[in-house]
Amino acid sequence: MVVSEEQVATLVGLSVLRQGGNAIDASVAMGFALAVTYPRAGNLGGGGFMLVHLAKTGETLAIDYREKAPLRATRDMFINQAGEVDMEKAQKSIYSSGVPGTVAGLSLALQKYGTISLEKALAPAIRLAEEGFEVSAELRKSLLNAKERMEKSTESMEVFFKNKGEPPKEGEILRQRNLARSLKEISKNGPEAFYGGAIAKKIAVYMKKEGGLITERDLTSYKAVIRKPVSGNYRGYEVYSMPPPSSGGVHLIQMLNILENYPLRQYGHNSTRYVHILSETMKLAYADRSKHLGDPDFSTVPTQQLISKRYAKRLANRINFEKTTPSKYIGPGDPLAESGTDTTHFTVVDRYGNIVSNTYTLNFPYGSGLSVPGTGILLNNEMDDFSAKPGTPNAYGLMGGEKNSIAPGKRMLSSMTPVIVLKDKQFFLATGSPGGSRIITSVLQVILNVIDHKMNIRDATSASRIHHQWFPDILYMEKEAGKNLSGQLRKKGHKVKITTPIGSTQSIVMINKLLYGATDSRRPGGMAQGH
Ligand code: GLY
Repeated sequence: MVVSEEQVATLVGLSVLRQGGNAIDASVAMGFALAVTYPRAGNLGGGGFMLVHLAKTGETLAIDYREKAPLRATRDMFINQAGEVDMEKAQKSIYSSGVPGTVAGLSLALQKYGTISLEKALAPAIRLAEEGFEVSAELRKSLLNAKERMEKSTESMEVFFKNKGEPPKEGEILRQRNLARSLKEISKNGPEAFYGGAIAKKIAVYMKKEGGLITERDLTSYKAVIRKPVSGNYRGYEVYSMPPPSSGGVHLIQMLNILENYPLRQYGHNSTRYVHILSETMKLAYADRSKHLGDPDFSTVPTQQLISKRYAKRLANRINFEKTTPSKYIGPGDPLAESGTDTTHFTVVDRYGNIVSNTYTLNFPYGSGLSVPGTGILLNNEMDDFSAKPGTPNAYGLMGGEKNSIAPGKRMLSSMTPVIVLKDKQFFLATGSPGGSRIITSVLQVILNVIDHKMNIRDATSASRIHHQWFPDILYMEKEAGKNLSGQLRKKGHKVKITTPIGSTQSIVMINKLLYGATDSRRPGGMAQGH
């Protein structure tokens, strides 16, 4: 079973499974294919996280291929003369990109846990780039929305707007010849092509010409890392997710631990009491995020304390049932006392019982908008996920602290939350989502909908969502939830705002040994398909 936000990529994964490949083979082929067919988030010039469960050993592991700050990056590189964060520089410039990790991460996954060659995994992406594919209405719309950022890049304009500044029409064929050449280089020479060979040279030359920071040394020294996932237990289910440098797994488990103290099913899905408790829980978790999370290779992250049941109980005791606690009265907790929006997710489960839950990103749709000349490779703008000025919110309104300040070679904090849930060591659920700061809360609600509210995966996916991230002190609600609830929640003191769709989860569950998949209609174009 394969679920992704883009149909052609789902079919690529499915065809690998049908030919006997495993979930890792299918995922790597999809990761490369999405760079062609879903360029707003699929990428070679970005980074991400892959959670893998191996049927043979029962092991679950996390591949961290997050981007890194270039070695010449400095703490205050985005602070202007007035002492403020220069958003344009952080989000839309040659300085916005971290050293990409995707090619290293996908190659490492395949080499360690796959069964097919890199050449074979890259073949569908090369074909799609060379021969082209039909442009969807969604792709055209997303290109129009990102045009302003791409206008600064001749390469981006030549690829996506070559028809007198117009993106291809729906149904037109989009060919990406330079990207095909880059993919072929990787197919022929391995990931070294990207990190030390022809592509590395092109990136370094472009950076030098434009005054950017990424050098060949940054690329040759980049390594994807295999980490131990963060794990917890929620009402008897084992939950695995991404450890730091993502905040996703830590805060997902922290929120589940807090919520385990309440009879959520009894409250009823999206009842006033349920949404109130959910929102108060989210605030507590995001307040902790602002202080305690960062790259674990650079500072100590108190992961075990943050995900302890005891700490969750203490936090639950701070929740007032009757009234919301304004965010200004909630600071980051002290767990030690007891001891990014555009991203995409896909989920694959194969016939052997291997599971992959992968989220990767360029950060904004089409990243910084800049493509490396001659490569067709769009660059991320992930440097904005650092706290450019601790205490000042980033593009997602997220507050960050010292632990997420910029430093050479450091990975910026993420919210990406690929998840695998097991029950009695058997596969139960895998999910993940795009959505910047809203990723963690989207994934949380899918898990609650399935485990507490006993929904099937389609309903669990489509049910209205809410989101609170501590600051701004706003309870965001999708229109459907807001319609019935906002008045009652306002009475409890919540500042409710009806918002655009929250997340786009791509999930698979297993019920009675059968797999069920659900893509999220919040973003059209996805596909769940079994074989
Ligand atoms: N760029 C969004 C995130 O990593 O959270």
